[in-house]
Formats: sequence, structure tokens, C-alpha cells
Amino acid sequence: MVRIYSQEEIEKIAASGGILANVLKSVAKEAKIGVSLKDLDNLAFKLTKEAGADPAFLGYRPRGAEKSYSASICSSLNDVVVHGLPTSYKLKNGDIFKIDFGVKYQGFYSDSAITIAIGKISKEADNLINATKIALDEAICMAQPGNHLGDIGWIIEKIAKKFKVKVIKNLTGHGIGKNLHEEPTIYNFGEKGTGLELKPGMVLAIEPMFSTGTDQIIQKKDESWATRDRSLSAHFEHTIAIRESGSSVLTNYI
Ligand code: MF3
Ligand code: CO
Repeated sequence: MVRIYSQEEIEKIAASGGILANVLKSVAKEAKIGVSLKDLDNLAFKLTKEAGADPAFLGYRPRGAEKSYSASICSSLNDVVVHGLPTSYKLKNGDIFKIDFGVKYQGFYSDSAITIAIGKISKEADNLINATKIALDEAICMAQPGNHLGDIGWIIEKIAKKFKVKVIKNLTGHGIGKNLHEEPTIYNFGEKGTGLELKPGMVLAIEPMFSTGTDQIIQKKDESWATRDRSLSAHFEHTIAIRESGSSVLTNYI
């Protein structure tokens, strides 16, 4: 079932998303050479709690994982696409660093991710990050009543081709709101005009994930997912609501 959220409910998801955006911004600012992933995780936890909210991933068991997640942020480096655990690793010059973060506030969830260049990165990496960001922006433009889920996947795939990078096929976006993951599944590829028709009140977490090499992923011992050929990956995500006309991003800075 794909939920249709009321205006009041969307406002609550936006309140959750506002907290998320503020915390993510502060954490991203600290993501510099020499800073450990654990320090960034601790900062995210502290700021979220101070805002009266809870980190949504902490204690959550994602599909295909044996253990529940033990941190506030997902901190995925270079070839790791998602679910990277914050360790004592210190960020290095040239790292492609992804922070994925979820917030639960007054019963409502929001989810967002960014990719950050640490120090000086290669041209190839820069192109990858740029492509993924543009794909999310374009997908959000597509997310309008009357359009279909396939339109979102189609535009994301089109941008990947344009920038000569690969869509990671086995990871998807999702509905969100009363739960972190709800229907529908949002593929990062697809055909125009196919799939579920988008309606006002739907709340979606759109999250393109691209790589410079393969579209295949493998699960590592720590249950994170990495590209099979160890090529670089990038990820951006926003939680959005479909409106009467167009859509609005609910995980923006206030
Ligand atoms: N942010 C992920 C998603 O978009 C969820 C991470 S769940 C965790 O679906 F448990 F791994 F943190
Ligand atoms: Co998500």
C-alpha cells in the first residue's frame, strides 16, 4: 500500500526533515581530513538528541542485514555505496565520503544523503559526484502528480548515461513517513510513463546511487554494500512530498 499523507502529516515529516538537514549540514562541515567517522557519528547523535529527535537508523535492521544498525549515520567511503559503519578511520585527502542520515521526530521519519569530496579528488570522482547530484535534482523535477515512478527512474538513468557513469541497480529509493521504509520501491532506472502514478500526498525518498565502474554490488563483512570492482560510488537522497502541483523537498535546511 502506498500511503497518502495529509497536509498536517507532511508538515510533521518536514519538521523531521528540517532537523535532519540542520544536523547533516553541521556534520558535513566537520567532515575534513583527519576527522574520524566515529567523531562525526557522535556529533550527529548529540545534535539530533538536542533537537528532541532520534537518529532513525540506530537500532534499525535493514533488509538483508543480520544485525540491527549500531550507529546514527551511515558513513560510506569510496567504493562503499551504503551502510558504511562509522569507525575510527580518519578521513583522507581524495576520499569520496557519503553520509546517509535518517531522523525520527514525533513519530515521523525523514531520510537524506550527501556525497562530499575530501580535499582534492580526481576529475573522474568529481564528474561522478556531479552526475549523482544532478540526477537527484532532475528526479525531483519529475516527481509531479500525473507522472509515474518510471519517469523518475528514466531520468536518473538518462543522467547517468550522459555523464558516462553506471546506475547501481540493486539499491533503491522508497516511500517514507510513518516508517523509514514504505512502499513504493523507487528504482533508479525505468521507462517513461510506466509504473505507479504519482499522486498528491505521496512522500518519497529518492536516492540515485552511481558508480564509475560496475553496476554490481557486494556485501562486506560489516554488512555495508560496496561496488564489486571497487570503483568509486556516489549517493544523494532527499525526502520529498508530491503536491497538487509539483513537489516539495522536506529535507532542506531551515
Ligand atoms: N538510508 C538508508 C536508506 O535510504 C537506510 C539505512 S538503514 C541502516 O534506505 F540501518 F543501515 F542505517
Ligand atoms: Co533512503
